[in-house]
Amino acid sequence: MKNILITGSEGYIGSIMVPFFIEKGFNVVGLDSSFFSEGNLNQTYLPRYKLIKKDIRKVELIDLDGIDAIIHLAGLSNDPLGMLNEKLTYDINYHASVRLAELAKRSKIDRFIFSSSCSLYGKGDGNALTEEGVQNPQTAYAKSKVLTEEALVKMADKKFCPTYMRNATAYGISPRMRFDLVVNNLSGFAHATNEIRIMGDGTPWRPLVHIRDITQAFYLALMADRNKVWNQAFNVGKSSENYQIKSIAEIVKMRYPNCDIKIMQKNAGDNRDYNVSFSKIETVLGLTTNWTVPQGVDEAKACFDMIKLNKELFNNRNYTRLNQIQFLLENKIINSELFI
Ligand SMILES: NC(=O)c1ccc[n+]([C@@H]2O[C@H](COP(=O)([O-])OP(=O)(O)OC[C@H]3O[C@@H](n4cnc5c(N)ncnc54)[C@H](O)[C@@H]3O)[C@@H](O)[C@H]2O)c1
Repeated sequence: MKNILITGSEGYIGSIMVPFFIEKGFNVVGLDSSFFSEGNLNQTYLPRYKLIKKDIRKVELIDLDGIDAIIHLAGLSNDPLGMLNEKLTYDINYHASVRLAELAKRSKIDRFIFSSSCSLYGKGDGNALTEEGVQNPQTAYAKSKVLTEEALVKMADKKFCPTYMRNATAYGISPRMRFDLVVNNLSGFAHATNEIRIMGDGTPWRPLVHIRDITQAFYLALMADRNKVWNQAFNVGKSSENYQIKSIAEIVKMRYPNCDIKIMQKNAGDNRDYNVSFSKIETVLGLTTNWTVPQGVDEAKACFDMIKLNKELFNNRNYTRLNQIQFLLENKIINSELFI
């Protein structure tokens, strides 16, 4: 395997994953509609990287020419964005993913790593959920992950090896930063406003993982023996990294002691509350994560000090997915179907 296609290569995770795979010696073809192309804090040239600027719904066989494996990240990537237009969420996240997998099979591409989400567990019962745990998706975004996994399961065969990486909620510094993720949001808001704001009552549980640990996990999945990852789901994270939202706020407060914690009660329709077990990925793929949330907040603070993060930059549309898509729609840069 030398040539890999990474869809969603220009996004929050993709911007970290692409250089990682290049450093490991791969040639990377990226495919992305580039919804967030303006929001690049430190654009750098990358060798052995070619970008196909294209909507995933329009991917063609020719785009897969010479590709040995696919990592599929592209999509409407969180609940608020998924709620913008549920039909589009299913079109992009589900139907286009299945179509990409069909094209992969026709191109005789065996390895297909799908970026799924722990969000599909939705509301748990307090126990740590394994990959066999009950799925209780609360939103169109989470349902789109369930439907895609179910479709890929049916497509798995001797020549097609799909793997479902169910990432915990991500955090960490990326050139394509996202402040709509809880750790990044609490740290960034504290830095920019001297306030820590919890949306909801702070009691829900959330598993968290650094984007560099996600990248490492995808690499291990790609390099693993086929029989270990064939048609397998993996929760991506670490069992000790399940936190209640209020504990994340307290970790942030330790770095920003002058900030008050404000509980806003309204949770903007986010009903997720789950605890996840990550034993399988540790034992089967040997993942040892390098990051914890306190280290992630330290990283964030160091970066925010360096770039002098202020309220304006924190609120810049480029770093909150829904705001950027709404801007593109209002300014007719994309049409109502989100095509450029
Ligand atoms: N960030 C997280 O916390 C998290 C957690 C679990 C799973 N995931 C999954 O990981 C993947 C990547 O997430 P991310 O945080 O980097 O998201 P992101 O929104 O930052 O990046 C997604 C990328 O996909 C592109 N894209 C969106 N729609 C497209 C389309 N129709 N055609 C082509 N490209 C399109 C966007 O331009 C963007 O660059 C997603 O599938 C997401 O569901 C993310």
